[in-house]
Amino acid sequence: MSDRPVIQIVRGVPALDGAGVRLSRIIGGPGLSQLDPFLLLDEIRAGDAAEASAGFPDHPHRGFETVTYMLAGRMRHEDSRGNAGIISAGGVQWMTAGRGIVHSEMPETDSGALWGFQLWVNLPAALKMTAARYQEFDAASIPKEQGPGTTARVIAGQTDAGTLGPVLGISTEPRYLDVEFADDAEFLQHTHTEDAALVYVYRGSLNALGASGAAPVRVETGCAAILGAGERVRLRGGEEGAGALFLSARPLREPIARYGPFVMNTRAELQQAVLDFQTGRLSS
Ligand code: CO
Repeated sequence: MSDRPVIQIVRGVPALDGAGVRLSRIIGGPGLSQLDPFLLLDEIRAGDAAEASAGFPDHPHRGFETVTYMLAGRMRHEDSRGNAGIISAGGVQWMTAGRGIVHSEMPETDSGALWGFQLWVNLPAALKMTAARYQEFDAASIPKEQGPGTTARVIAGQTDAGTLGPVLGISTEPRYLDVEFADDAEFLQHTHTEDAALVYVYRGSLNALGASGAAPVRVETGCAAILGAGERVRLRGGEEGAGALFLSARPLREPIARYGPFVMNTRAELQQAVLDFQTGRLSS
């Protein structure tokens, strides 16, 4: 049994996106430009909605998937084809942009905090121009798996214990778990050896336990541990009731041509995406 070692610790860096929303960029920034097939991971956290109210007005996507998961507050979304909805606390939207959508994402809260994540997952060449698809689930539709001292919310993929997340049919076979730890509880999860895997700590701290004999690696709030190849992930909670996202997926190992909200395989495909957007044909 090979336990995955920590090969890099990435601290989120402050970034501005949308119409001036402050966020922390973990993947897609200077520390880690991508972790195939993950193209971007942002944490959006504001004391109240006013801080983030500028939101993310109409913008396009083509060639990948955007995954929005909210811990607190809400995200209201609306696209150019008439789809609209609200992602509430504990809920997720897995949007396969495929050949394209133009949408807005606007934060809302009643009074308290806004806290959420957006992950971008690449699509293989064969699916970059697939029809757009939404999968949306509220908190009650996301199964909770209780372990000894841990609670895992299973958004996508299947856990070792067999809990299956509601997001289905994603080509890179991702696992997306939100795991809460009581004190020094341990959380174990088997993975395909070559899958990309990371843990992002959004509260408290935890320890990533690699090969036997290796010292545990402490992962602080706001940091991700990038895990090297191996069959198993071993995590242990720190002292402050850790909360962390566990993400894994099959790498695509394809060329990436990237320009803002478009992620294709070639420069020519990127130019076509820009042209299609400028001429209003992105999603037609
Ligand atoms: Co978007």
